[in-house]
Formats: sequence, C-alpha cells, structure tokens
Amino acid sequence: MSNLAGSVLVGGGSGFIGTAFSQLLRSKGYGVLIVSRMPGPQRISWTDLVENGLPANTMAVVNLAGQNVLDPTRRWTPGFKQNVWNSRVNTTQSLAQAILKAQNKPKVFVTISGVGIYQPSSTAEYNEDSQGKKFDFLSELCYEWENVGKMPAHLGVRHVIIRSGVVLGKKGGMIRHLYLPFYLGLGGPVGKGDQKEDVRGVLNGVAPQIVTNKEFAKTFAKALWRPALIPIPEYALNLAFSEERAKMMTEGQKVVPKRTLAYGFQYKYPNIESACREIVKS
Ligand SMILES: NC(=O)c1ccc[n+]([C@@H]2O[C@H](COP(=O)([O-])OP(=O)(O)OC[C@H]3O[C@@H](n4cnc5c(N)ncnc54)[C@H](OP(=O)(O)O)[C@@H]3O)[C@@H](O)[C@H]2O)c1
Repeated sequence: MSNLAGSVLVGGGSGFIGTAFSQLLRSKGYGVLIVSRMPGPQRISWTDLVENGLPANTMAVVNLAGQNVLDPTRRWTPGFKQNVWNSRVNTTQSLAQAILKAQNKPKVFVTISGVGIYQPSSTAEYNEDSQGKKFDFLSELCYEWENVGKMPAHLGVRHVIIRSGVVLGKKGGMIRHLYLPFYLGLGGPVGKGDQKEDVRGVLNGVAPQIVTNKEFAKTFAKALWRPALIPIPEYALNLAFSEERAKMMTEGQKVVPKRTLAYGFQYKYPNIESACREIVKS
C-alpha cells in the first residue's frame, strides 16, 4: 500500500503520540517518514524539509512536534517559552510552506493543538463550534499554532485540527509525572480510511466522558490498587512549574467532542476506567 498510495510525513513522529501514531500507520501498511531533529532511518531533518520540500509521494502530512511544556527539569523562562512556541508554530509553518510549494499536494494536513484554547471555566462547556480565545500564553500559542497550519487549505488541501486534551499513556506525556483532570482515550481505527475523506476542520481530541481531577485521581488509584492518593497542593505545583504552566494542571475546561462523535469516531477507551486499566497494564 505504501508504494502505491505514498507515505505519511510525520513531524515529531518520534515522540509519545508520534510513535504510537506511526506504529498504527505502519500496521495498516502505510509508509511513514518522520521529520526530526535527530538523524535516523526513515527520518528527514527540518532543514531537509525547508531545502528540499516534501518528499515525493507524500500522501498526508501530520505535525506532532513540540517541546514538552511540562518538562519538570526545565524552568519556565522566556527562553524556554520561546522553544515551546517555536517547536510548534515554526514546525507547523515549515510543513505548511512545503505543502504550498509541492507540485503534487498531499490529500490532507493534520495538525494538533490543545484544549488550552478554551478558557478554563467551571460552568462553560465547549465543543468544536466554540471559538478559541487568546487569554494567556498557552491559548495564544494554540491560536497561532492552528492559524499557521491553515494556509494549505486555501489551495484545496484538507486541513484537520485536533484540539487534544491530555493524552494518557504509559510511555509518555503527563501521566509520568502527575494526575490530571482530562484525558484522551487514544482511539482505535474507525472503519475503512476511505470513509473518512470528508473530515476537515476542528475536532476535539478528548474522550466523551468529562471527568474532574478528583474523579480521575480516584479511578487511577483504583486501577493501581492503591487505597488513596495524597492530593498535590496547588502551591506546590505553582512552585515547581510556575503559575502559568501549573494552570494546565490546576484548571480545566469541560470539552465535548461533538464533531468527533458526529463523524462516527469510535473510542477504544471511551471512559476513564477503561483508559486507566490500559495505562496500568504491564
Ligand atoms: N501529550 C499530551 O498530553 C498532549 C496534549 C495536547 C497536545 N499535545 C501536543 O501534541 C504534540 C505531541 O505531543 P507528545 O506528548 O507526543 O510530545 P513529545 O513526545 O514530548 O514530543 C514530540 C516530538 O517533538 C519533537 N520536539 C521536541 N522538542 C522540540 C523542539 N524544541 N523543536 C522541534 N521539535 C521538537 C521531538 O522530536 P525529535 O526529538 O525527533 O526532533 C519529540 O519527539 C505536541 O505538540 C503537544 O503539545 C500533547
């Protein structure tokens, strides 16, 4: 299939989500080429991309690159914030420009952003029709990150934006450090890929069940066979991560995957219990 249909170019395909996604694509017979800062087989560099453009036979382009915002070893300095920004906005822009220049356009450009584009609220419920807003550094980042990916759509390349909630998994992301209020059950494939060729626009990448931090912590503890968890005080998170970053863990939004469900997406782990059971499975 990969030789006939072409391959998928995945920015940040070496990461936590990117590795799982690339494995899924390969298991379906697609070729995968990763854009990475590190050399390796089936990889190109960001400089290669800018200088040589899209590799021949690229049928789809996906960007999953981004400096880990919650890296506890990195202080929230202006320099680090710039890395966080550039690693998302500039990589998305490089891929968008390569698509614009390509003679043979890929069928689809998929970019990720975060539910951080929705203002935390204890009452508001957001779906994909809700407008993103700029109210802090992370929301401005999400806004710009989504925006720079939109250019190829003007030339008819289908653009899908996944506004992802926190991704739970054994191999990376926040689960390694902390217990968090939101989760995304990594979805299984839905029917045949060719049924989904009309998907475009924003999709909320969250599971249909909304849970609070407390509910998540309780369920996760139960899955780990622990009787209770000691709550992490907010001031400790503020101290360790700085308030601007800690907000990602201490505040939350109620986000509903309305369009995602309307497209018929089937979740492999639709509720918090099944997601937690999968995480702790050794
Ligand atoms: N995990 C979550 O819960 C979550 C939630 C919402 C949104 N997202 C977004 O989804 C994307 C993937 O998340 P993830 O958890 O898979 O991330 P990750 O594993 O921390 O990193 C993804 C990849 O980004 C590349 N990268 C890291 N720093 C970079 C830099 N300074 N410049 C260019 N590339 C850099 C790395 O690839 P190389 O080392 O190969 O260059 C890395 O493998 C990120 O943009 C993230 O913000 C994640």
